[in-house]
Amino acid sequence: MSTELLLGEPVAADIREAVSDRVHELGDRGIIPTLGTVLMSEEPADKRFMDLKHAACDDVGVATRDIRLDPSEPSRRLHREIEDLCTDSEIDGVFVQVPLPNHVALPAVRQRLEPEKDVDCFHPENLGRLVAGEPRFVPATPAAVCRLLSSYDVPVAGADVAIVGRSGIIGKPLANLLLQDRTPGNATVTVCHSKTADLASVTRQADVVVTASGAPELVDGSMLSSGAVVVDVSANREPETGKTDDGSSSRHGSGTANVVGDVEFESAREKASAITPVPGGVGPITLAMLVKNVVRAAERRGTDG
Ligand code: GUN
Repeated sequence: MSTELLLGEPVAADIREAVSDRVHELGDRGIIPTLGTVLMSEEPADKRFMDLKHAACDDVGVATRDIRLDPSEPSRRLHREIEDLCTDSEIDGVFVQVPLPNHVALPAVRQRLEPEKDVDCFHPENLGRLVAGEPRFVPATPAAVCRLLSSYDVPVAGADVAIVGRSGIIGKPLANLLLQDRTPGNATVTVCHSKTADLASVTRQADVVVTASGAPELVDGSMLSSGAVVVDVSANREPETGKTDDGSSSRHGSGTANVVGDVEFESAREKASAITPVPGGVGPITLAMLVKNVVRAAERRGTDG
C-alpha cells in the first residue's frame, strides 16, 4: 500500500500567509500584535521550543516579549511576571511554557492568566468555553491537528478516533473538538491514557489515531488497523521527556536522529493509509496556529473579547 505522508509545512505556509495579511491590516490601525512568553526551564529542548515560537512570530511581523526565569525561583516570581504581562496594554497574548518546575502548582498559574490574553487556552474559563462549543481560543496543537485533518481531506465525521494522551493542552481539548458538530468533527472519540488496560485493542478499532502521550514509539504497526490515518503530535527528544512536535527539520529527510514520536514510524507506515512524520508533521502547523491566536487577540483589542 502506498502511504501518504502528511507534511505540516505546506499547511503552515498557507496559515502564515493569511496571518501575515492580518498583521499588515493591524499595522494600518497602529497595532503591533505582541506575544509575551514565560519559560521557567533550563532544558535545551524547552529553550529550543521557545526559540521556535519567537522565530515563528518574527516571521510574520508579530512582536514578542521573552521572559526567562531560573527554575529555582519561587512561584510568586512567576505569578508576578504573568500578572505584569497580563496587565500590559501592549501585550495581546501570554504563553507560559510547560512543564514547569515541580514546586510550581499549575492551577494557580492558570488562574492568573487573563482569559482574553490566554492564547494557549490554559485558563479553566477558556477550556470550559471550548468544551461548551464556544471557544475564545482553540489551543494551538489541537487546532493544528484539526487543520491537518481538513487540509488532507481525512474523513472525520462518523469515524472512530482514538486519542492517546489526556493532557489539558492536547488530549482533552482535541477530544472535545472532534466530538462537536463542526468540521472536522462528529467523530466517535476514545481518549486513552497511561492507565488504559489494553491500548492496542482501542487503537486497532480506530480509523484515525492521534498520539500525544510523550511516550517514545509507544504505538507500532501491530496496534493499527489496516488503512488507519496516524497523526503523531509528540517529538520526544530523549526516552523520558515528551515534547510537542515543534521541530523544523525532518528525521525522514534531513536528519535529527534523536527525535522520535509516540509512533514507531516504519512499522506504522506499513499499516497506515496516511501518517505524519516526526518532526515535520503537526509541529510547524502548531507554531502557525499559536501566532494566529495572537493576531486574533490583537484584533479584539478594545472589544469585549
Ligand atoms: N509545552 C509543549 N507544548 C506546549 C503547549 O502547547 N502549551 C504550553 N503552555 N506549553 C507547552
